[in-house]
Amino acid sequence: MPASVVVGTQWGDEGKGKITDLLASEMDMVVRYQGGHNAGYRIVVDGEAFSLQLVPSGILYAHITPVIGNGVVIDPAVLLDELDRLLERGVDVSRLVVSGNAHLIMPYHQELDRLTERFLGKNALGTTKRGIGPAYADKSSRVGLRVQDLLDPKIFREKLDLVLHEKNLILTKIYNRPALNAKDIASKYLDEMAPRLAPMIADTVGIVHDALEKGQRILLEGTQATFLDLDHGTYPFVTSSNPVAGGACAGSGLGPRDLTRVVGIAKAYVTRVGAGPFPTELDGELGELLVERGHEFGTNTGRRRRVGWFDAALARQAARLNSLSEIALTKLDVLDTLDEIKVCVGYEAKGVRYNFPPYHQSVFHEVTPVYETVPGWQSDVTSVTTYQQLPSAAKNYVKFLEEVTGVTISVVGVGPGREQFVRPS
Ligand code: GDP
Ligand code: IMO
Ligand code: MG
Repeated sequence: MPASVVVGTQWGDEGKGKITDLLASEMDMVVRYQGGHNAGYRIVVDGEAFSLQLVPSGILYAHITPVIGNGVVIDPAVLLDELDRLLERGVDVSRLVVSGNAHLIMPYHQELDRLTERFLGKNALGTTKRGIGPAYADKSSRVGLRVQDLLDPKIFREKLDLVLHEKNLILTKIYNRPALNAKDIASKYLDEMAPRLAPMIADTVGIVHDALEKGQRILLEGTQATFLDLDHGTYPFVTSSNPVAGGACAGSGLGPRDLTRVVGIAKAYVTRVGAGPFPTELDGELGELLVERGHEFGTNTGRRRRVGWFDAALARQAARLNSLSEIALTKLDVLDTLDEIKVCVGYEAKGVRYNFPPYHQSVFHEVTPVYETVPGWQSDVTSVTTYQQLPSAAKNYVKFLEEVTGVTISVVGVGPGREQFVRPS
């Protein structure tokens, strides 16, 4: 059976968690393929809210095998804490499998993430300070420790000694910070955490392919988003992994022909956390209104999200980069009170018109959005249960977004609750 991907089409927090939840009933396995606990997703199940960072949201369903794939970076303390919190709330977490090839986030990664941000000063990226960038950097430099190393204490200690020697030089000589102690780290990772993690560690590539062969349906759950992608995002204001749908193959071990459906998640407006260009950003009263109505504060870090109008140039680019089969549009209800709504249909810079984000960062920083204005609906859509019940201005907005992005909108979110969505027919 084929595999589907859920991917963010903007700068994150599009509501991927909620759409994964919607699709979960049709799935047998949910696999995370990149990122780490920089993600934060909130899902409301039967009126009960769950905030997750690392565990695939499929864990909330008894019929699903949740998998953390090889492309993820894992802070084991965060993973165990999250599992404990789910256990306390009666969720069966024993089905979780974790790739032995996934890389570990180590204490020095978090420390270096914080220090580098401070060092960058006004040029800081506004990372989540979770150690994500430094962990992926070590993976690329081939000095990372992997989950499987937890099963081999001798190898773990050898690798740790080697890498910590260099990290401690950086910490002490460059940043004037105390050195970290290899024995303390090894004792925490190997003695305290490895015994609990060991039963979950597995060959996840074998597991996902066995599932495919058995005809099971697999959902690849992306975190972050297209414009936070290390290659295709607004570099350097990006994360250090590949959230785009192509990354789902590398990060799970599935092949490109195994993917047959790519669901792009887009908010009815745009948000961004941290630094970086944002052509349609709104400040002032309108910005405040969207932040307030959309509860635009990080699920994970509590940071206020920047907000702006829907950007069709980004959406078109996301459609190409991910070969989107459809868009799930979320948070339409947040726009309920507006009398008119702007949509960015392209950009202009130095007299040149752009229908896609210009590749050169200096140009992208300078673009002016070209807006079209459409009427708002000024009524509450949170209790509609069919697409037909939406006010005609709301339906026209959805249709307009389909026209300017060139992608079919298959789901429209009208509230945070599990049942608060409608399907355009
Ligand atoms: P993710 O990181 O992409 O999974 O998204 P987050 O969970 O960080 O942020 C999305 C937020 O929007 C969550 O609090 C969701 O409960 C909420 N949400 C999702 N869909 C809708 C919607 O259609 N309307 C409203 N009002 N909230 C939504
Ligand atoms: P979800 O999955 C929004 C942003 C950070 C920062 C940049 C780099 O909830 O959509 P990092 O810690 O990854 O090195 O930070 O990426 N960022 C996110 N923004 N949603 C996320 O995840 C994010 N994960 C990282 O704010 O700008
Ligand atoms: Mg989020």
